[in-house]
Amino acid sequence: MSNYHIKNLEEYFAVYRKSIRQPELFWQEVAEEHFVWRKRWSKVLSWDFNKPEIKWFEGAQLNITENCIDRHLNTKADKTAFLFEPNDPKEPAQHITYQQLYERVNKMANVLKSQGIQKGDRVCIYLPMIPELAMAVLACARIGAVHSVVFAGFSAGALATRINDCDARMVITSDGSFRGNKTIDLKGIVDDALEHCPGTSSVLVVERTKNKVTMKPGRDQWLAPLLEGADVHCTPEWMDAEDPLFILYTSGSTGKPKGMLHTTAGYMVYTAYTFKNVFQHQSEDVYWCTADIGWITGHSYIVYGPLANGATTVLFEGIPSYPDFSRFWDVIDKHKITQLYTAPTAIRALAKERLDYVTSHDLSSLRILGTVGEPINEEAWHWYNDHIGNKRCPIVDTWWQTETGGILISPLPMITPTKPTYATLPLPGIQPVLVNENGIEITDNQVDGRLCVAFPWPSIARSIWGDHQRFKETYFTAFPGKYFTGDGALRDEVGYYRITGRVDDVIIVSGHNLGTAPIEDAINEHPAVAESAIVGFPHDIKGQALYGFIILKDTGTSRDRDNLSREINQAITEHIGPIAKLDKIQFVPGLPKTRSGKIMRRILRKIAAGETEGLGDTTTLLNPEIVEEIIQGKI
Ligand code: WT7
Repeated sequence: MSNYHIKNLEEYFAVYRKSIRQPELFWQEVAEEHFVWRKRWSKVLSWDFNKPEIKWFEGAQLNITENCIDRHLNTKADKTAFLFEPNDPKEPAQHITYQQLYERVNKMANVLKSQGIQKGDRVCIYLPMIPELAMAVLACARIGAVHSVVFAGFSAGALATRINDCDARMVITSDGSFRGNKTIDLKGIVDDALEHCPGTSSVLVVERTKNKVTMKPGRDQWLAPLLEGADVHCTPEWMDAEDPLFILYTSGSTGKPKGMLHTTAGYMVYTAYTFKNVFQHQSEDVYWCTADIGWITGHSYIVYGPLANGATTVLFEGIPSYPDFSRFWDVIDKHKITQLYTAPTAIRALAKERLDYVTSHDLSSLRILGTVGEPINEEAWHWYNDHIGNKRCPIVDTWWQTETGGILISPLPMITPTKPTYATLPLPGIQPVLVNENGIEITDNQVDGRLCVAFPWPSIARSIWGDHQRFKETYFTAFPGKYFTGDGALRDEVGYYRITGRVDDVIIVSGHNLGTAPIEDAINEHPAVAESAIVGFPHDIKGQALYGFIILKDTGTSRDRDNLSREINQAITEHIGPIAKLDKIQFVPGLPKTRSGKIMRRILRKIAAGETEGLGDTTTLLNPEIVEEIIQGKI
């Protein structure tokens, strides 16, 4: 029996049992079976969730790009590594082979070195979904620089916060990005951000849209001419197992974004292992994950996991609605995609459109469907199953987080019987537990609990960059000795898990994780605003959308308020990005607060959802009368 690849349900149970009873032996055997190590580990695992400190494969040395690229060259040099599908379907797709990837990544790595980037330096990558994005990530990993990719939909303000937080010396960007029929001036956004980033001394610019850009002498350089002269060989930097690989920001329920720190060996082992099993990858597959590399899904399941398995992985620059709503189905038909991994929000948006967008395409190449990012509702699950999978492709509802690095709970396709809206069973090595608010373990079925994990797995984040205390407080303090996910979940009678949603102040909008605090901060900067509170409310396509309750300093006229609403969304776009815009704004005379001054979001959530009956106990409020005033629409 292979330790690396699970082939049937008995094997799953056997492997799972072993992974719980002898976790170190289990992960050691996985690590031995599939990867290239320059030096073997001296200890598989040491951990303490109270500190917290987690170390996997200590003493080992490796380079993740040797595992993702070099070792495939003997057998797969001419196999497509990345299949690039541009925004405009008229522009030809590009097949980048493993050999070409090797050369292009090494060239870029040599350019980074020639610009003075060394092991441990942080490099911020702000690029659209073009091959250079994946190559920049891998080039950093090749030389041991720590990449921090910022999704290219974030605003200049959000970009500057992230650049400064990780103290990035260099930014890699492009002249622009294509998004449907729009072009976005990425370089201009970087220029604005860098006004506030004194520590960033160089910018490399990829040419994509041929937008006119200003190049700041001494700071900005075009990448292409630098690549021309660069050598196609670059000896990998031998990294310690626990050396940082990347920082990726995720929203928190308070204050600034959290730079989740992931390290090298454990992340590699876990993402490769889960990719192989959750997608039952076979060598001829053409696998497509529609996420952006700016999110963890793209890091783990477009770049590292697939490449560590020698897979062909699609890089899609476009959006589902351009040139029309058949784009996904067109890409599947054109490239004979075998696995499609996408978000419930995309499924819901596409399910609303005419069915002949789907039926006019041949989707018979598909074998496995995946979803990620938020709970998938039953209706969307069935539409995906019936119309995209034609009832013959298992759906893997994969639950995980930026912090977990890889998928923790998911069916194995063709192996685990699926159940709509259930992420089903934990993957090997994962020990989920449900606890009540007092931290007592829930053993009953179908009782909503807080989802924790009792034991470390190789790709768990190691810290929050620059703020280990916050790491401890956010994830390891509420339920001592356990990792707290921030999610609620149920378990059914056979042990299947159903994720019910966030239990903190994070709201998942269209699969994007948004913290309420930074949005409220952006709103409160508007001179007319006294205070604000954001909650999520159910939305057909986005899953959750944002509802803002806003107190004005001066109530003004209704025309003023229309303008104000626009200005508030403008302020949010500038500070965070368009993904955080409010769908509904209600100006209110006050906010329900507890005696300690905390906003009672539970009540606001009910009002936002239109559930104004049975608001529960409001007697502990400092100002119970405000609830009725808000419901009445008083200003
Ligand atoms: C949060 C993490 C993991 C990559 C994308 C999001 C929610 C994620 C599922 C799922 C229900 C899910 C959780 C989680 N979530 N996948 N299959 N079912 N909820 O990463 O931005 O770090 O967000 O997304 O609430 O905590 P992220």
